[in-house]
Amino acid sequence: MSPLHVTRTLAEDATDAALRADVLHGLTATPKWLPPKWFYDARGSELFERITELPEYYPTRAEREILATRSGEIAAASGARTLVELGSGSSEKTRYLIDALPLAAYVPVDVSESALTQAGEALTAERPELEVHALIADFTAPLTLPATPGPRLVAFLGGTIGNLLPAERAEFLASVRALLAPGDGLLLGTDLVKDERVLVRAYDDAAGVTAAFNKNVLAVVDRELGADFDPDAFDHVALWDAEREWIEMRLRSRTAQTVKVPALDLAVDFAAGEELRTEVSAKFRKEGVSGELAAAGLELTHWWTDAEGRFALSLSVVR
Ligand SMILES: C[S@@+](CC[C@H](N)C(=O)[O-])C[C@H]1O[C@@H](n2cnc3c(N)ncnc32)[C@H](O)[C@@H]1O
Repeated sequence: MSPLHVTRTLAEDATDAALRADVLHGLTATPKWLPPKWFYDARGSELFERITELPEYYPTRAEREILATRSGEIAAASGARTLVELGSGSSEKTRYLIDALPLAAYVPVDVSESALTQAGEALTAERPELEVHALIADFTAPLTLPATPGPRLVAFLGGTIGNLLPAERAEFLASVRALLAPGDGLLLGTDLVKDERVLVRAYDDAAGVTAAFNKNVLAVVDRELGADFDPDAFDHVALWDAEREWIEMRLRSRTAQTVKVPALDLAVDFAAGEELRTEVSAKFRKEGVSGELAAAGLELTHWWTDAEGRFALSLSVVR
């Protein structure tokens, strides 16, 4: 069996410094916000996996349907020998690509060490011939990829690109383009604009799993920075912004309260009803995706959706 290589490109102290900077910046801003990458400690990654199984959360099933039916076409168009997956999480749906592509190496990239090692260990056991080089890294920072055979296919699944703001997406896509040589490609999963009720339900499930996931960011700040957020003092909010065509997840303070963050020597006042934005999840249309790709120097060469047209996978192969 090939060994699992795990490379930490994020030093522990750099992660700590990034969390401090984000918490200081976000909790002193008006309105308050925190970036979504801090949801994903071991508990957050586990809660996200539970979200993917919820009846209301259609994106995972829709994207799996596309991968199950189109992986052969993706493999024919890409011929990749290395699959790099950004924000790979459990790598569960990725198995369709791993089985279809003539792969020598799989490079999952994630901030969640627990998700990476669990997925990596399962994959090396199931597919002993596959080299797995897991990178603990932030995909919004410059990436150095291991020297594995080309062509490369960079996959960014799950609609995770929608968690970046438009300017961040432009920067991110340009940095992905810079990693690609002729013959390499980008496979991008995007959730599509649809009925508001369906969208809101997907982020506000009846069992409260998304609420627990949303509040987990408070537990991370409590544990890492000694803060005294009480998750029960906040309500989970999911709403659709029709103008920007994105879902916003927020945490609404139930009362007027002051939260202390000792590691930053900070006291944060919340008014009753004040909201803290924790995630945006942009929804896309085909023209928007192809325009954003083109602005980064990438041409949309294939576009596949599930039968109900809820989710899309697009492929750009560099000529
Ligand atoms: C919405 S989940 C999607 C997981 C998986 N790709 C799927 O489709 O089910 C987002 C994943 O990206 C990871 N992630 C979020 N922000 C990240 C960042 N800035 N750098 C690296 N990974 C990140 C999370 O840990 C999580 O595994």
